[in-house]
Amino acid sequence: MEHSDIILGIESSCDDTSAAVIRDGYLLSNVIASQQVHKDFGGVVPELASRAHEQNIVPVVSQALAKAGVKASDLTAIAFTRGPGLLGSLLVGTSFAKALSVSLGIPIIMVNHLQGHILAGFIKQYGQENRHPEFPFLCLLVSGGNSQIVKVNSPLDYEILGQTIDDAVGEAFDKCSKMMGLGYPGGPVIDRLAKLGDPERFKFAKPHIPGLDYSFSGIKTSLLYFVRDEMAKDPEFMEKNKEDICASFQKALIDILMDKLIKAAKQTGIREITIGGGVSANSGLRDRITAEGKKRCWNTYLPEFKFTTDNAAMIAISGYYHYLHGERTPLDVAPVSRMADF
Ligand code: KG4
Repeated sequence: MEHSDIILGIESSCDDTSAAVIRDGYLLSNVIASQQVHKDFGGVVPELASRAHEQNIVPVVSQALAKAGVKASDLTAIAFTRGPGLLGSLLVGTSFAKALSVSLGIPIIMVNHLQGHILAGFIKQYGQENRHPEFPFLCLLVSGGNSQIVKVNSPLDYEILGQTIDDAVGEAFDKCSKMMGLGYPGGPVIDRLAKLGDPERFKFAKPHIPGLDYSFSGIKTSLLYFVRDEMAKDPEFMEKNKEDICASFQKALIDILMDKLIKAAKQTGIREITIGGGVSANSGLRDRITAEGKKRCWNTYLPEFKFTTDNAAMIAISGYYHYLHGERTPLDVAPVSRMADF
């Protein structure tokens, strides 16, 4: 039989326990156990997340292997998320990856979670067109913890051109939702309500940050004061106008994201553009980037919805590139909650 590289990917950085198997870059399985324990808390509770990972990790990995039709002894290497993320959560995936690698006598390969999001579009699937950007490309990386414009020179070479100086855009979505009593996570519910509202109805103060950096703390405060003032005049203001508030707030966030992305594309002359991270699931952002792309002759690439949120397929594909490049991670590696660079 022909030799093939079979990589197991493990992701446990936040509140999803996930395992995936890829063979020579093609996805065989991707299993995700999303944790429900956080629902009543309005956010992820780190302690509960670690415990749920500990419960889920063995069945999730077993299922991923079974679905892929692969035995543990067939694996070539194990890729795992080293960071950034919640330390207790990362420890579960990291320790599991190490233990399995020792028992199988195969290497581990650490992966930066953010790099996983950026390379999500490179996951190849049997029977599907495998369209991905050419290098170098720009990635608008937008999640609950990050808002960055990254220039990607190769699967292993990244340059951060701009990033948020305070909150991430996902946090702005989540805080807006919390403020309006719409629950957590905020992005999906605001996205849904925004489709029913008028994006031009309300205006919110935009930040004036030099260069390619972002800021989202001011606009959050602008929404807070606006809602507070309107509610003082009419206590039912929020209930009556929630669709228009969501549509207008979402549009303001997308405007901020797009202004800098357009600037980055002009400055670098790069027209290969992609997005990644949880907020890349936002339908308003996806429509806008597609429309701007057409107008500006960009080649735009949108990751499939199922690969926009945390998953191990993106970790496995990133690990695969590192593996091909000869990288192996020593067994004394420790996870890190913050990773400044890629
Ligand atoms: O990448 P991710 O799953 O987790 C990390 O931050 O690592 O991103 C989660 C963020 C949350 O802030 C969530 O509200 C946001 O992604 N999100 C969305 C949508 N779906 C998830 N934001 C806007 N629109 C969405 N459809």
